[in-house]
Amino acid sequence: MVAVAWPYANGSAHIGHIAGTYLPADIFARYHRMKGNDVLMVSGSDAHGTPVTISAEERGVTPEDVFSQYQAEFLDDWKRLGITFDLFTTTHTDNHTRVAQDMFLRLHEKGYIYKDAMVQPFCLTDNRYLADRYVEGTCPHCKHGGARGDQCDNCGRTLDPKDLIDLVCKICGNPPEFRETEHFFLRLSVFEEQLLEWVRKQDHWRSNVRNFTIGFLEGGLHDRAITRDISWGVPVPLEGYEGKRLYVWFEAVVGYLSASIEWAESSGNADAWKDYWQGDCRAYYFMGKDNIPFHTIIWPAMLLGYEGLNLPYDVPANEYLNLEGFKLSTSRNWAVWVPDYLDRYDPDPLRYVLSANLPETSDSDFSWREYVRRNNDELVATFGNLVHRVLSMVNRNFDGKVPDPGELDDVSRELLDEAQARLDTVGTEIEAVRLRQGLSAGMGLAQAANRYLDQKAPWKAVKEDKADAARTLWVSLAVINCLKTALCPYLPFSSDKIHLMLGLEGSTQDAGWNWDRNQLAPGQPVEKPTPLFVKLDEELIEAEAQRISG
Ligand code: MF3
Ligand code: ZN
Repeated sequence: MVAVAWPYANGSAHIGHIAGTYLPADIFARYHRMKGNDVLMVSGSDAHGTPVTISAEERGVTPEDVFSQYQAEFLDDWKRLGITFDLFTTTHTDNHTRVAQDMFLRLHEKGYIYKDAMVQPFCLTDNRYLADRYVEGTCPHCKHGGARGDQCDNCGRTLDPKDLIDLVCKICGNPPEFRETEHFFLRLSVFEEQLLEWVRKQDHWRSNVRNFTIGFLEGGLHDRAITRDISWGVPVPLEGYEGKRLYVWFEAVVGYLSASIEWAESSGNADAWKDYWQGDCRAYYFMGKDNIPFHTIIWPAMLLGYEGLNLPYDVPANEYLNLEGFKLSTSRNWAVWVPDYLDRYDPDPLRYVLSANLPETSDSDFSWREYVRRNNDELVATFGNLVHRVLSMVNRNFDGKVPDPGELDDVSRELLDEAQARLDTVGTEIEAVRLRQGLSAGMGLAQAANRYLDQKAPWKAVKEDKADAARTLWVSLAVINCLKTALCPYLPFSSDKIHLMLGLEGSTQDAGWNWDRNQLAPGQPVEKPTPLFVKLDEELIEAEAQRISG
């Protein structure tokens, strides 16, 4: 189960979202599908809550307009970038409403949700209750100035508006007053011990995720209001609460389950979701670090209360990706937007550069200089050139047919052994969600193959010792065939091109996570090579810098 955090449908996706969440999930899912495992990868637009209503008000349109615009845009992003969801739905469906309400009712029935009075900020100027992002103030934990009513971006703590210091209304800037209203609360406190015990056992979790969660729980787990006084969202399924909606986080996390159910229904086997939620299945949740407490504490508490559904197996949350040394910012337009990138460049170079730089253990940086360098030095010069050189020589000197290797020499055998070992290593790294390491193990094979070629110099041998040139090119083709598989989770478009250029049928994906060094038999035709990657002009570095800061 590849569960991918649901993007708020109030703005375009940028490269920070891709590096933090979607690309890692996709690499992981692609690998496991190739490996032959059953994979279900779901997510969707997080359509409700104050992030979307605030955008709608700012633009003078309806929340439906905002979320449907971005839903369409996200679907287009995923298609063009090769992010392969089995289902990318939205939280604004009847199915999701039903499943989220069922979660609420069952937890309510079991006493894990109760009603209580609470004080809520009310703005006299705007004459309304101010939920979550409608208020801003200072974080009581870390004293960060711009904390929102739901969460502090600086320390990652989840918040209640009443905790904030120097609270103001985000619409008019005045301090609100507090009024008492009735809300439903999730009895999180009863799960504190059980969650602590569970999290402490998760030795395979990244230490930042585990430590953050343990620290959070040791600070004491308090019950939280899970309804809001707003009109956009999933209605509270009890009579007398028509003006209230479920808190966006309470219902959005249910999306993993509702999307699985929706997927099962459309697959023709309505029970198929159970294999992923009740069976022997590992659920991996991909997200950025600001999402950690919702996935390691609140969602697991809901699952424990509901009973009978699998808890997360791993939550490989990422740190942040910066851009040219500074934090990405939607409001300051300090970002590279995915649709904009894809209008101008190919998907694989972005997948590559982000994969090589994933913020897995600490924040990382994207810069256009680095993008151009890695594209030109690593994709074009190391990988693309290897494929091009070998296929060109086979076409030029061997009539476009796989040459006969004859007897293998030691260097050739060593390289072939290294190829198998590296393919295995890439797999091990991806399984442990060390995706950066996986890529570097794969690229190491391209480097090794280039060294081999330089040493064997088949362009010379072809005149002096044609049998040796044949041997070298056969080995190189076999290694390229391996590379295509090893790098496929990262560079799917390029892998498929190589697969076809090698004269093979179908797709790399279908060929699976294995390599038969003898697959390319002497005499089989290969195609004429077309370039896998394009060399980029250094001038674009300056132009792109202008575009961001412009
Ligand atoms: N929309 C949230 C964000 O972008 C993530 C929601 S993940 C979910 O931070 F599971 F709650 F849907
Ligand atoms: Zn804080």
